[in-house]
Amino acid sequence: MFEQIERVPGDAILGLIEAFKKDTNPQKVDLGVGVYRDSQGNTPIMRAVKEAEARLLKNETTKTYIGSHGAPAYGNVVLPMVLGENSPVLEAGRASATQSPGGTGALRLAADFIASQLPGKDIWVSDPTWPNHLGIFPAAGIKLHKYPYVDANNRLDFDGMLSALKQIPEGDVVLLHACCHNPTGFDLSQDQWKQVLEVVRERNLLPLVDFAYQGFGEGLDEDAYGVRLLAESLDEMIITSSCSKNFGIYCERTGCLIMVAKDNEQMENVRSQIAIVARENYSNPPAHGGSIVSEILTSDDLIPVWRDELTEMRDRINTLRRDFVEALKPYGLDQKYACVAEQRGMFSYTGLTPEQVDRLRDEFGIYMVRSGRANVAGFSHENLPYLAKAIAAVND
Ligand code: LMR
Repeated sequence: MFEQIERVPGDAILGLIEAFKKDTNPQKVDLGVGVYRDSQGNTPIMRAVKEAEARLLKNETTKTYIGSHGAPAYGNVVLPMVLGENSPVLEAGRASATQSPGGTGALRLAADFIASQLPGKDIWVSDPTWPNHLGIFPAAGIKLHKYPYVDANNRLDFDGMLSALKQIPEGDVVLLHACCHNPTGFDLSQDQWKQVLEVVRERNLLPLVDFAYQGFGEGLDEDAYGVRLLAESLDEMIITSSCSKNFGIYCERTGCLIMVAKDNEQMENVRSQIAIVARENYSNPPAHGGSIVSEILTSDDLIPVWRDELTEMRDRINTLRRDFVEALKPYGLDQKYACVAEQRGMFSYTGLTPEQVDRLRDEFGIYMVRSGRANVAGFSHENLPYLAKAIAAVND
């Protein structure tokens, strides 16, 4: 039977990890997969995480199952982190948290829930979006459509986005990026979020907000503006949150599906369905990442350590954005790439073409996604002159 199976190319983002490892160029630069890197190019374990793990190792008494919704202690800390400490949504008991294997796991739970409980609803995603969105929803049997997000000059096309949202059939699902839009780095302003809310209300759309980079844009609360506005203004929404990036625990697969319903009764109904979806996918989520997060967020001495480390990462990325544009000045390219300093989060949609990206890889050992998405955390003060020179060469 297997003789009929065709080989397909590997994942465009994850494939870069292997390709980069194999490259023997001593000056090679990895701007591929979205992981934070320090000035040495390493992805270190955060100090707060190390300490939390030491405490867990000492105090953990069992490895038994944690249930389909995951550890209650994890939900209890993620809900206020995402929705706000004094959230009226939490006070009303309208939100449910389900620990998931990463943000990707939360997206797949959401997709399976939509497919089984809201049949006939299509999903609308930004063009461009994280490539895995394009796989996850159709894999669950949901039809996927795109709305514009970036214009021909590589700028946020908010007018195009809004008028497309106004055309979405009533009741469909619209996927929005809470902050640090992946892959572009273009985020909505508070005023733009308010306009999106109005259209979502008018068209009776169900927002699904992907919140994978909380704390990497402007700050933990600032980045949650859109999520909290929608949750407090609408009866229903879906949020897929991740602690992979803001706790640097990528391999521990630590995400959360948050379902917001009209009232506590409806939330419990929805929650009961989510438990089934989780059970059918993987039964129980892995526990360790969630335990780290709840240990940190319930320890008065670890919270400030973690917050400071997150601020350090965010500030470093934003400084590198500005320094990248500066480094291009001698080549007369600073205006062309000025958007990199304006974007937020780990990624920049640089405007480099697939052909230029190929040349950067083949001639300079610089790796990024062919869409021109660069992981800004891969910049460093050591490699910026080399990067600028290489970008100038492929712009010739
Ligand atoms: C990325 O976009 O690079 C990250 O979200 C990692 C991934 O799984 O693609």
